[in-house]
Amino acid sequence: MVLVTAVIKPHALDAVREALSYLGVAGMTISEVKGFGRQHGHTEIYRGAEYRVEYLPKIKVEVLSSAEMADDIVEVVAKAARTGKIGDGKIWVTALDSVTRIRTGETGPSAI
Ligand SMILES: Nc1ncnc2c1ncn2[C@@H]1O[C@H](COP(=O)(O)OP(=O)(O)OP(=O)(O)O)[C@@H](O)[C@H]1O
Ligand SMILES: [Mg+2]
Repeated sequence: MVLVTAVIKPHALDAVREALSYLGVAGMTISEVKGFGRQHGHTEIYRGAEYRVEYLPKIKVEVLSSAEMADDIVEVVAKAARTGKIGDGKIWVTALDSVTRIRTGETGPSAI
């Protein structure tokens, strides 16, 4: 089991949700987050020095999945969220020790 985490541009969320639904994911969690990547958000020059880092608004999408589906999820999210401009985001995959479905008490892959 893995957790696929994607940080995307807010306007890409609808397309990402649609692509994930089409793929048949069981669920997803989204959060409004802020962050910066290699361009450090937006920097300004003050007395000759770059001095300020801003955190740009992004959406974090989290999907629990079987390890087998992870590559497909990464692929469709990347395709749906890509504009080709800076700040399109990042996707990472983390191995999971355990998942529990609270209502039924199921654990493991059948809990996803
Ligand atoms: N190394 C990182 N660690 C944690 N979060 C990151 C990292 N890089 C990017 N992020 C998150 O992803 C968001 C978008 O990153 P971004 O797409 O700007 O990455 P980038 O590496 O600068 O690529 P690009 O050059 O295309 O802009 C950031 O605002 C931040 O929330
Ligand atoms: Mg960037």
